[in-house]
Amino acid sequence: MTAFHVGIMSGTSLDGVDIALTSFSPASPRATLIGALCLPLPPDLRSDLLALCQPGADEVRRAGIAGQQWARLAAQGVNQLLQQHGISASQVAAIGSHGQTIRHHPESGFSVQIGAPALLAELCGIDVISDFRSRDLAAGGEGAPLVPAFHAWLLSDPEQSRVLINIGGFANLTLLSGDEQVCGFDSGPGNVLLDYWTQQHTGQLFDADGTWARSGQVIPGLLDRLLQDPYFSRTAPKSTGREYFHPAWLQQHLDGRHDRPADVQATLLELTARTIAEALAGCQSQPEAVYICGGGARNGFLMERLQQLLVPRPVQSTAALGVDPDWMEAMAFAWLAWRCQLRQSGNLPAVTGAKGKRILGAIYPA
Ligand SMILES: Nc1ncnc2c1ncn2[C@@H]1O[C@H](COP(=O)(O)OP(=O)(O)O)[C@@H](O)[C@H]1O
Ligand SMILES: [Mg+2]
Repeated sequence: MTAFHVGIMSGTSLDGVDIALTSFSPASPRATLIGALCLPLPPDLRSDLLALCQPGADEVRRAGIAGQQWARLAAQGVNQLLQQHGISASQVAAIGSHGQTIRHHPESGFSVQIGAPALLAELCGIDVISDFRSRDLAAGGEGAPLVPAFHAWLLSDPEQSRVLINIGGFANLTLLSGDEQVCGFDSGPGNVLLDYWTQQHTGQLFDADGTWARSGQVIPGLLDRLLQDPYFSRTAPKSTGREYFHPAWLQQHLDGRHDRPADVQATLLELTARTIAEALAGCQSQPEAVYICGGGARNGFLMERLQQLLVPRPVQSTAALGVDPDWMEAMAFAWLAWRCQLRQSGNLPAVTGAKGKRILGAIYPA
């Protein structure tokens, strides 16, 4: 009987809970996606989670409540997905649940994801593996990004050096040179500032296809100011989040300016594209091909700008490699759960900066 693994990812964009039903094998095909779904975060839970990303009163209690709400939503999604595919809980070896990051402070040795894994195990009747970041942090790593290990396992190809760029709230790069070498880090904001600005000025949750950004003009003076942030010139290992690139970070650069909102949007999109391209240019080896995953792959204007900046290398979504760009990260957490059960390492020390390979995750038995 095939053992399935479920992966649950709820990223920094706070758009929804992605759930992927997978099976893995040491032989080809290494990963099969049986099905997936995304449950949008209800607006109240979304705003509670967003508030928890900043220091505030009574936050321990609020985190306790929000974590349970998140787990109930995730459990509903898991049960719905299994039902759709006629798979029972007993056929699922484990759920890998990332949870929702509310604070990421690798410089202080911690990263907090909430999502009540014990409640999730209770509601699904399946082993849940969660808390993937803390062991890497304990070993001196950033605890992030974790997906490069999965990218390397699934998509390394001795015939082609390639870079995988996951553009969620933040953007992270995985450079696969074709040999054992893997380089990976967060280049900076992906969609997070674009979403914030769109929500402020249009009432939409995001700028569909980058149409609004395309209607504006990049403001060179503003772009230069934003590019001067020291994060962009820091060397890897590095990872970042909403505690660093938050609305006040943007507002402080806008203070005293009277730019057209559409031009600011164009500038923010350019910031994402430029910081990705420059991060890649700073890597020791240069890939032959570029593959994009995460919600940013759906932003036609961002994809166009990346293609222009990274020419002559082709820029495509990971669909070209047979992996749906929407589910790559959720699949990665299913894989990390599998690795934990096998008692095999889930981190790449070269990426996170940890002292060595570590088995990631804490197990909450069904
Ligand atoms: N059609 C689209 N056009 C432009 N951007 C999109 C589109 N669909 C999704 N996105 C962007 O992708 C984000 C979600 O990407 P995702 O990979 O789920 O990020 P995260 O892992 O941070 O949750 C949305 O917040 C939005 O900014
Ligand atoms: Mg998401």
